[in-house]
Amino acid sequence: MRINKYLATMGIASRRKAEKYVLEGRIKINGNTVYDLSTKVDLENDIIELDEVVLSKNFDKKIYILLNKPEGYITTVKDQFNRKNVLDLIKDIDERLYPVGRLDYETSGLLLLTNDGDLTYKITHPKHEIDKIYLASVKGIPSREEIKKFESGLKIDDYITSKAKLQIIKKDSIKDYSVCKITIHEGHNRQVRKMLEKIGHPVMNLKRIQLGNIKLGNLEKGKYRHLTNEEVEYLKNE
Ligand code: URA
Repeated sequence: MRINKYLATMGIASRRKAEKYVLEGRIKINGNTVYDLSTKVDLENDIIELDEVVLSKNFDKKIYILLNKPEGYITTVKDQFNRKNVLDLIKDIDERLYPVGRLDYETSGLLLLTNDGDLTYKITHPKHEIDKIYLASVKGIPSREEIKKFESGLKIDDYITSKAKLQIIKKDSIKDYSVCKITIHEGHNRQVRKMLEKIGHPVMNLKRIQLGNIKLGNLEKGKYRHLTNEEVEYLKNE
């Protein structure tokens, strides 16, 4: 792609203005000023700058980030209350990223962010049934009966939940709470909270720890890392 077309496509300038920038020597490709309007850019590899500001390190590069979302951040783009957004936590990445699915404002844990729309679609589509695993601290201790109900399907709003799993991994009958490991593969709004509420054990704290075989591990809250190539391949083939 020619440099002026690239600048226009990126929304940096009109074609005519882009030509002006080039002729004025304001554009650099890989550190070298270009004056020739017919200069082509390699979208995969070139670093393009306008007035020393990098426009895009890599036009078509796909980025995959795993964030440990803290409580008190939203994952949707717009918010009428001006609350903090998970994207505020991503500092050194120029590409526009989008959260893959949602976590509630009060939920913490594993959240993927990417600019790969195909992968987002794939992971969030219910028919792919990718497991989502959560740790939920709940009021009280679910009984066998309640666990059975939870696992075999509950009527929530206007849908019935599909197969789910609930394992109690810690219980404290004096303080009357328990920690449950929950596995679901759907992604309805506030689904885990609503399911636990329905069986009489409201959530006090909720954290996502795993998506398919991708694990949060011991990543600190508010920190993020790039997915490994193996993890990206796994998600693409899931
Ligand atoms: N289920 C919920 O209730 N909340 C989340 O954030 C994710 C799943």
